[in-house]
Parts: sequence; structure tokens; C-alpha cells
Amino acid sequence: MMDRWTTRINSGNLEIDIEREIVATAGEIIARTSFENMKLGKEIDKLLLCFIESRKESKVERKGREDLLDLLLHENQVDGKYGKKLSTKELVDECKTFFFAGHETTALAISWTLMLLAIHEDWQNQLRDEIREVVGDQEVDINVLGGLKKMKWVMNEVLRLYPTAPNVQRQAREDIKFDNLTIPNGTNIWIDVVAMHHDPLLWGENVNEFRPERFMDDVNGGCNKTLGYLPFGFGGRMCIGRNLSFMEYKIVLTLLLSRFTFKISPTYIHSPSFMLSLRPAYGLPLIVQPL
Ligand code: HEM
Repeated sequence: MMDRWTTRINSGNLEIDIEREIVATAGEIIARTSFENMKLGKEIDKLLLCFIESRKESKVERKGREDLLDLLLHENQVDGKYGKKLSTKELVDECKTFFFAGHETTALAISWTLMLLAIHEDWQNQLRDEIREVVGDQEVDINVLGGLKKMKWVMNEVLRLYPTAPNVQRQAREDIKFDNLTIPNGTNIWIDVVAMHHDPLLWGENVNEFRPERFMDDVNGGCNKTLGYLPFGFGGRMCIGRNLSFMEYKIVLTLLLSRFTFKISPTYIHSPSFMLSLRPAYGLPLIVQPL
């Protein structure tokens, strides 16, 4: 992607639709086509099935380089908590969930970040300084990533303003009494994370401002309710990929900010829209220049 950008920039084309580029690069196309196109969906099922079977049969030692599929297969060797192993079809479905849940949410978090950094040049520079200090000329590895503190505040703040998974669902399993309200058993509940993250009663008057420093000393960003900040959900079904997404986010941002500067394009139209995830309705054109 970065080489493609450099070629485009060198040919005088500085405007790049960041959202389209990053989401595509993160593999969104595979996830989407598996949902929207039955023929391709079946192809993907076949491909995943083949992958799972060959991993099951493989005798190659994978210690130290296990991936999510290894963990799933390992857990599946014994009867789980509910006394039931996953069928191969269920394993395929789990793999598709990883694809879908993982790619678009993280890619969009990176896209919204670049938009906000393009507007807040001071933060763009602060992150670049941090990368220089923490990473320098070293290889980017997991130990180095832990040192990118400001970058983590920025990601938290981006996911507060633009939670890429904009709602969380639950179903009442019994009648629930809540003040004077009774939620009947079986009710589907839609928790509007975007509304909660923009509620001045939870965050104060500066709720709509981009202030990553909220997260400097507080994992909840100063929200006055423990469950007011929910970018990854909560409880037993909380996102299992959050640490992976922090890693991916930090690696991609480190590479991009070390090579390019970002400014908002005059053609950008701000219209965050709910399309399963929270996406910029008209793309995210930015002016990208090499450092
Ligand atoms: C910025 C990135 C991400 C965001 C904002 C995000 C957000 C979420 C949210 C809100 C949920 C629902 C939690 C709940 O109902 O309480 C969820 C579930 C899930 N996420 Fe993520 N996610 C991200 C990245 C990832 C990645 C990288 C993976 C894959 C490896 C992943 C895999 C999953 C899975 C498998 C579930 C279902 C968990 C379950 O039902 O037990 N997510 N995510």
C-alpha cells in the first residue's frame, strides 16, 4: 500500500481515499464478499474448510507461532464448558467471525485516526516524535509497541468519538426490573455506543472535542460511569481481538506516520454513517505527502 501511495504521489496525485485504501488492505473485501455474495461465500467456506483440515492433519511443530486457528483447534480437542465440541461448520463460522469482526473495525479505527490527525496537526507531530523516541531505528516488535503510550491514548479517543462497532446487542433472559421499568424476558436490547460516547452527562461539556489526554491516567477516559466507555463491548462477550487490534493499529500507524504527512482534502465531506460499522459515507480523501 505504501509503495502504491508513493508512486501515486510521485506522479502528482496527492489525494488518497484513506478509508478505501486501508479497509481494502486490511482484507475487508474477503469478509464482505463472504456475506454479500453467495457464490464467493461458498468459495470462502471451501477455502477455510480446506485450511482447517490441512492444519488438523499437519504434523509441523507450531510452538511459538500459534495463531487463532491453532487456539480454536486446541480448545476443540476437549469437550468444552458446555460438553460440546464445535463441528467443522461451526469452526468455519468462527473463522469468518474473526475475519469480519477483526478487519473492518480495526481498519476503520485507523482511517478515523488519520482524519483526526490530519485536522489536529499537533497530535500528528506528537505521535511522530513518540515514534522517533520509542522506536527509532529498531524493528517494530511487541516490546517496542508497549512504549507507544500517546498512540494508545489516541486510539482510545478515536474509538470514543468514532466507535467503529457503533452498538452492542443483548437479549434479556428473564424479566429485568430497572427503576420503574420492566424489561420483559426475550427483549432484544440495542446499546447505542455512539450516543453514550457523546453524552455530556457522562463526559462533561468538552465531550465532542478530540482530547487524547483524557486517557493519560484513566482507562475510562474520565467518564463518570464505569460502563460508559464501551468500544469493545463488556462482560463475558467482550471483544476477544482488542489486544490484537491495538497491535495492528500501532504497527500500521508507526509505518504510515514515519513516511507520510496527512492533511484533510477540501473534497472531504464529514458524514459518519452507520453501515453495520461506523464508516465515512463519502470516503475519506486526505492529502498525503512524503516526509
Ligand atoms: C478496533 C477494533 C475492534 C473493535 C472496535 C471491536 C469491537 C467489538 C465489539 C463491540 C464486540 C461486541 C462485544 C460485546 O457484545 O460485548 C466485539 C466482539 C468480537 N470481536 Fe471485536 N473489535 C475489534 C477488533 C477485533 C479483532 C481484531 C478481532 C479478531 C481477531 C475481533 C474479534 C471479535 C470476536 C470474535 C467477537 C465476538 C466475541 C463473542 O461473541 O464472544 N475484534 N468486537
